[in-house]
Amino acid sequence: MNICVGHQKGGVGKSTTAINLAIKRASVGKNVLFVDADPQASSVKFFMLREEEQIEPSITCTSLTGKAVYQQIPKLMDKFDDVIIDTGGRDTEGFRASLLVADTLLVPVLPGQFDYWETESLPEILDMARINNPKLRACAFINKADTHPGISMVDETVDAISELEGIELLKSKLYYRLAYRKAAELGLAVHELPGKFKNHKALMEVFNLYQEVFDA
Ligand SMILES: Nc1ncnc2c1ncn2[C@@H]1O[C@H](COP(=O)(O)OP(=O)(O)OP(=O)(O)O)[C@@H](O)[C@H]1O
Ligand SMILES: [Mg+2]
Repeated sequence: MNICVGHQKGGVGKSTTAINLAIKRASVGKNVLFVDADPQASSVKFFMLREEEQIEPSITCTSLTGKAVYQQIPKLMDKFDDVIIDTGGRDTEGFRASLLVADTLLVPVLPGQFDYWETESLPEILDMARINNPKLRACAFINKADTHPGISMVDETVDAISELEGIELLKSKLYYRLAYRKAAELGLAVHELPGKFKNHKALMEVFNLYQEVFDA
């Protein structure tokens, strides 16, 4: 399966999501190719750290930007079970190219009206991509949901996303938890965090998201 984690907005958790899903997928024995389509290449650095620390499962990570995403991924696909593409925080050529080779676009959305406005242009981008890739599935989910219900803006964001044409809203949410940051710092997925950093809620959230994305 080819999954693109994308959003035209920066800092919504694309790399965090892509990394966690890729490692989870590799941990069940799949041969995963991770494509960092963000010129900032933060995921490349993450996987280099994993390699230096010899953390298993090891995942092949390659950097491809712009048209190369569209040109190279179909050539590489045969060698892997799954391809996970992490895109940059803007509407780039690499993001558009990813949508032509992906089965699923996974969109992290932060709670709050501002983020919703940014997401509003997605249906148009998807319409364009579906001319050449009609089976493209698009799913959004809430990331960094507040663990304190009193100050949560999740419900209004969920309502707003539900109105977007051609985008499915997943039930899974990732809440704002330090475990995600800590794991990234250590070159780990949240389910790999050792003893004192272990966060059962975070690993269940990722597990639920993983199931909704891969078992659809
Ligand atoms: N659910 C979460 N809880 C707490 N921190 C999170 C969560 N998701 C992501 N983060 C943190 O938020 C920051 C931004 O996340 P990330 O780098 O994954 O976003 P991005 O969309 O890939 O950003 P960019 O557009 O710059 O590539 C990181 O420090 C990350 O550790
Ligand atoms: Mg990123």
